[in-house]
Amino acid sequence: MDHFSYRDGEMYAEDVPLARIAAEVGTPFFCYSTATMARHYQVFAGEFADRDALVCYALKANSNQAVIRTFGDMGAGADVVSGGELRRALTAGIPADRIVFAGVGKTRTEMAEALDAGIYQFNVESEPELKALSEVAAGRGVAAPVTVRVNPDVDAKTHAKITTGKFDNKFGIPWNRAHDIYRLAAGLPGCRVVGVSLHIGSQLTDLAPYETAFGRIVDLAGALRADGHDIARIDLGGGLGIPYGGETPPTPAEYAAMVRRVVGDIDCRLIFEPGRMLVGNAGVLVAKVIYVKDEGRRFVILDAAMNDLIRPSLYDAWHDIVPVRQAASDAALGAVDYVGPVCESGDVLAANRPAPPLDPDDLIAVRSAGAYSAVMSSTYNSRPLAAEVLVNGDDFAVVRARQTLDDLLAQDRLPPWLAAGGGAERGAA
Ligand code: LLP
Repeated sequence: MDHFSYRDGEMYAEDVPLARIAAEVGTPFFCYSTATMARHYQVFAGEFADRDALVCYALKANSNQAVIRTFGDMGAGADVVSGGELRRALTAGIPADRIVFAGVGKTRTEMAEALDAGIYQFNVESEPELKALSEVAAGRGVAAPVTVRVNPDVDAKTHAKITTGKFDNKFGIPWNRAHDIYRLAAGLPGCRVVGVSLHIGSQLTDLAPYETAFGRIVDLAGALRADGHDIARIDLGGGLGIPYGGETPPTPAEYAAMVRRVVGDIDCRLIFEPGRMLVGNAGVLVAKVIYVKDEGRRFVILDAAMNDLIRPSLYDAWHDIVPVRQAASDAALGAVDYVGPVCESGDVLAANRPAPPLDPDDLIAVRSAGAYSAVMSSTYNSRPLAAEVLVNGDDFAVVRARQTLDDLLAQDRLPPWLAAGGGAERGAA
């Protein structure tokens, strides 16, 4: 459920017309709904309210400070995967003791920052990482709280690029090697084993792979306890899918019922790392039509492009696209390709979609653009990053200013041999 809907023929975000935001902020912009985020968080967290559980919002889905703060204010922790995300989580006010640090390539510098901040746990993904973490921690006179991310070798049945729980993926330690690595961890001076973790993929629409993977990790937790390790936490990762168009992913209640069934009465704190299901459908990308080109195939050329939203180009992902001004009920629909101005044929946000007549300056909204959208945007073709807006009831605020061309150019430097004199003069010399 989300809070983007038509009222009197106009698309609103909560109580604010998207056209009003476009008039004030310009296009393209991402627009997020506080009420939608809050509802998704409360539904998910509510399922585990009777258990010792910590919901760590996966910042990678959308790391805008205002989004992080919205979840933090409701009690969420954070799942971070870089020193940058750690900084964002701390700056947005997430208490360090609710932050878990995942990822296959944590540098020693990032480890030191996280240790100094006093984070809740490191999810370690390899033997060399474990040894490095122990060295960094021991050098500071502390022991890092550690779970080993176990790879359960389960096919999550999602897109190949976002499957993480098979042995040929780069993530985690094969579950049948877990005993060895836990023995190693227990002997390291800078590590303190606190639990086990896993994450098998993203946009899962079926509970079966979860059930197999979670069963394996629960069995493993028992076996590790029998080996004498202190397994007080099980981190089950994220990954619950959302409806982009036609899918029927499990509801949080169905997911929670499965988790309860599999973990039984094991005496462990449960940790979850949801990203997409909290923010995915809480955002839209609003763009303006620049031209409509009709030479047999009809192209609606927008001012948003693959640099703003790369998911369709990268994963063939489906995003619904709707006009901001509702089409008349008897409007004739014709097939269009929604494309951007980037100089690549792959710059298609949606192909072959039924659309009402659209004209230059009309606004459209790309749905489900709250997760893995603004965070994955780039400045390809020297296109500045789009603005981000957060709506709350009848109020809204720009939560990331549109990048300016000055911002964009500011990091470039001319080396000394090019800096002196103008190009034409140099050519003449
Ligand atoms: N925990 C870990 C260790 C992860 O790697 C991820 C996502 C999550 C939690 C959150 O998963 P979620 O609940 O959001 O599914 N860019 C891709 C998705 C990449 C997901 C990466 N890992 C996309 O646009 O579909």
